[in-house]
Parts: sequence; C-alpha cells; structure tokens
Amino acid sequence: MRRKIVAGNWKMNKTFDEAEDLLFGISDELANNSPEEVSIVVFPPALYLELANDVANENNFFTGVQNISEHESGAYTGEISAAMISSTGASFAILGHSERRMYFGETDAIIARKIDQAIKHNITPVYCCGEVLEERESEKHFEVVEKQIGQALFHLTKEDFSKVVIAYEPVWAIGTGRTATPQQAQEMHAFIRKVLAAKFGETAANETPVLYGGSCNAANARELFANEDVDGGLIGGASLKASDFVKIANSF
Ligand code: 13P
Repeated sequence: MRRKIVAGNWKMNKTFDEAEDLLFGISDELANNSPEEVSIVVFPPALYLELANDVANENNFFTGVQNISEHESGAYTGEISAAMISSTGASFAILGHSERRMYFGETDAIIARKIDQAIKHNITPVYCCGEVLEERESEKHFEVVEKQIGQALFHLTKEDFSKVVIAYEPVWAIGTGRTATPQQAQEMHAFIRKVLAAKFGETAANETPVLYGGSCNAANARELFANEDVDGGLIGGASLKASDFVKIANSF
C-alpha cells in the first residue's frame, strides 16, 4: 500500500515563540486525534528544526526543510546543506516549490542537483510540480508537468527514485483559495503516475506517494483525499493552525 502523507509547509511564517506554540498545538491535537497509517511532516523554517525535532520525536511525526543547497559544503554563504539537515534528524525536504522557481530562479536542472543531495544524505525529497494559470488555460498543464518531472527526476536510478515523494501543486491554486477540483486533482495525479510508470515501471509508479497542494484546507481535504491517486496533501496556509492541520491529517 502507498504511504499516505500530510505535510505542512510553514513557508516564511512564525517567530520562535509562535513556532513553539504551533508545534505544541499539533502535539496536543494529535494526542486526541492521531490518524492511523498517515505520516505527518512539518516543514518549519530551518532554524527551528532542533525544537521541531524534539516535539516531533515525542509525538510520532516527522520534520523537514523547505529548501537545501545544491552543493555539498564550503563557501556558499547563507546556504544550508543536506548533510547539515540530515545531522539534525530532519528527514524530508521540499524541493522545486513554485515559490523557489519563481522568486529564486530555480530551474529543473538546479532542482535535480538538490534532489541528488537530498537522496545522498537520506533526506526524502518532496518534489513539487505544477502549472501556472496561463498554462492550464491554454491546456498545456499535462505537458508542463511531464517536462518538470522528466527534467528533475528521470536521471535517477530506480532505487533512488523509490525514495521520492511528489507533490502536484497547481500554481494558480497556491494561496489563492481557488482549489483544484477533486476531478482536476485526480486527473493530474493519474497522469503523473502514468508518466512515472513509463520511465520507472508500474510498481515504482504505484508505490510513489503523490500529494496535492494548493488551498487544501480542513473543509476540502476529505473530498480531495478520497481520490484513488491522491495520497495526501502539502498544506500551506491551513498548516499554520494546529487544529486545522491535524483535522486535515484525519481526512482520509
Ligand atoms: P496554500 O495551502 O497556502 O495554498 O499553499 C500550498 C503550498 O504552497 C504548499 O507548499
């Protein structure tokens, strides 16, 4: 059976005290309502990882980062390497998020190198792909996503690919309140699985978790997760409130 995952991308939000409140809030909510067979991951700003790891370890959830360097180590001021992240005990990294592509010039080639770094250091990459509105409106969304997947993941061996999680995040749905319909999500997730099967085989494609992200919240998660090929969510805004986030994790 494929792994189900609900992950919270905090983006650039929360001071230290607020982060502490949110982490303890998640732990309190989970004490009352812990989903079975769902991996929960939080992605706080990296400088709160030590705190997040402590709370996560005690409460059976995982932590990750929102970015890693494409380089191994050395003179890269301001960067954080995969080895450093791994040494804290964090185990996931969001890579290829549309905000990194848009505001920080990350190309699929750069993201491919970050994926390699993550895998090398035992960090599970959550690879984000998804089209912008104009591409959806001109019906290029399948083509765009296929290309993003090919360029960032097709250099991997089958074994390394088996460590990857994919998040389909249509850019027009991110932070807009305009969620993809369950049909749109299912259609794209099934397409992604088809693309993966052609390259890595049916078994690998069937075992890869494909998450949905983009205005997913406590009110719409259930109808999105009910789809055969939707294995959970990568949640932005709604992951900043403990009760909403844990409710989403209980929406299967
Ligand atoms: P929202 O849930 O705020 O739309 O953000 C989605 C996202 O970008 C998660 O990575």
